[in-house]
Amino acid sequence: MTAHDLARLHAAAGMNLRVWSAEEYAALLADPKTIVTTTEAGFAIGSIIFEDAELLLIVVHPDHRRAGQGRQILAKFEAAAQARGARTVTLEVSDQNTAARQLYETNAYHKVGQRNNYYKTNDGTSEHALILKKTL
Ligand SMILES: CC(C)(COP(=O)(O)OP(=O)(O)OC[C@H]1O[C@@H](n2cnc3c(N)ncnc32)[C@H](O)[C@@H]1OP(=O)(O)O)[C@@H](O)C(=O)NCCC(=O)NCCS
Repeated sequence: MTAHDLARLHAAAGMNLRVWSAEEYAALLADPKTIVTTTEAGFAIGSIIFEDAELLLIVVHPDHRRAGQGRQILAKFEAAAQARGARTVTLEVSDQNTAARQLYETNAYHKVGQRNNYYKTNDGTSEHALILKKTL
């Protein structure tokens, strides 16, 4: 997927948070620390720093949800991170994001911290960020 494809899919995801532009995706793709894994309807993007991979975002197109794509993309991301030397994956997720929290919790991620009122939503409210980690 190109930077434009990633930005388009992100925009289609219907999230209540700022969408990253194609330019921001292009900068991420140009960074050797970046890991991207894709399926036909979604992607995960993250960054590897020594033995920890930070999962920045996972997105599945709304027309293809609840069909196992999220699990598949997450597994691909973890495998790619492990192949690059990561021993853990860390991520942040809104406490309001039931779907993503369920995806992570059923894939052995556990809470290691919380940032209160961390996310500023498009409608002007704020949501807490949960910090989750998994040992690979
Ligand atoms: C989170 C997201 C990636 C899940 O993708 P998906 O392809 O629908 O996920 P899967 O079909 O693989 O589902 C895996 C598990 O996640 C959980 N899950 C997924 N959607 C859910 C929902 N709407 N409600 C509750 N649990 C849900 C379930 O535990 C599910 O397993 P099950 O179907 O066996 O019950 C998708 O909802 C999405 O793109 N959301 C918008 C972007 C986002 O919020 N990303 C996370 C921020 S980092």
